[in-house]
Amino acid sequence: MSERNSSELSTVLEKALALSKVQPGERVVLLHPYIGYNARIVEGLRVALNNLDADFVRLELPPRSEGMRQVTPLGPYAVDVLKRAQMVVRVSPRPALTPDISVYHPSFSEILAGGARWLDFMIDEASIWRLFPSPQMIERTLAGALRMEKAKTVRVASDTGTDLTVQKTGRKGAEQSGIAAEPGAWDNWGFGLVCCAPLEDSADGTYVVSPGDSAATIERVAIDRERVVFRFEKGRVVSIEGGAQAELMRMHLESFNDPNVYRIAHIGWGTQEKAVWGGPNFTTADWESFYGCMMLHFGVNIFNTPARHKGLGGKVPAGTHHWGGAVLNHSLWLDDELIVDKGRIVAPDLK
Ligand SMILES: [Fe+2]
Repeated sequence: MSERNSSELSTVLEKALALSKVQPGERVVLLHPYIGYNARIVEGLRVALNNLDADFVRLELPPRSEGMRQVTPLGPYAVDVLKRAQMVVRVSPRPALTPDISVYHPSFSEILAGGARWLDFMIDEASIWRLFPSPQMIERTLAGALRMEKAKTVRVASDTGTDLTVQKTGRKGAEQSGIAAEPGAWDNWGFGLVCCAPLEDSADGTYVVSPGDSAATIERVAIDRERVVFRFEKGRVVSIEGGAQAELMRMHLESFNDPNVYRIAHIGWGTQEKAVWGGPNFTTADWESFYGCMMLHFGVNIFNTPARHKGLGGKVPAGTHHWGGAVLNHSLWLDDELIVDKGRIVAPDLK
């Protein structure tokens, strides 16, 4: 690769795909929706896959609907094609423009169960460069997943009033580091985090979102302006208190008319030292991966994969709305060991 071309998008994408071990001759599907995707990123991936000598096709999914409701673009034929792939590389639409294939759709786990790897690109071009995983991030994230795998209990607390405990015996220690290298692995480029799906009835305590966090707004990836207090009993949020923001959140969640929307999907911490908090470069990857943040999402978590540390394997069913965010200045314990102290990772081998 010549120095002169090293700033081309395809160059960084080629390095990204090489981390996920895309091999010459490998069957790869380059997947995107019919509108709302970043054509430059698709084109950059096309060049990268060609340079890597992959045996690839580009697949554009059509719009699909049931009656007057738009649904996942993943039809049965597309599922068949994707199951035949060894690797799927997806560029997602801009949020809210058209339905995308959720990782929580049952077909998604079915495709990965056959051994296909899957790498998502959901972030902008500048962030694809900016969030390139460092060797240290990859190492601390995998080490964190191993520790999460062994843990039976996750406790989080803050000076602002959070004190929440969940149980996870038997559940995976999951990680995302932007690399889908083993058969059946899924990952999301730019992300760095460790998490798990807790046992559905186990969450007990209080979760406090403060101004400056990003966890209690209807919009994803927005900064909280008010304090919002969530109280849990037997695995479910039973009250949401605060001001106008809490009221909006309550109304929004009630609109789904679904008790499972109040159950935790996944909980964990961010490991991406390159992630920013707020501002024009605040992507979904930054939001979930910010170094030392505590991430807590709710709703569907049935997503699973054959890879040891990829996927959640929870029991909150398909169709449940998935929502949540991340908070700063929280502490997190795995069993009795302090892993994150007020937003700083302190476990020596997980820093
Ligand atoms: Fe989530």
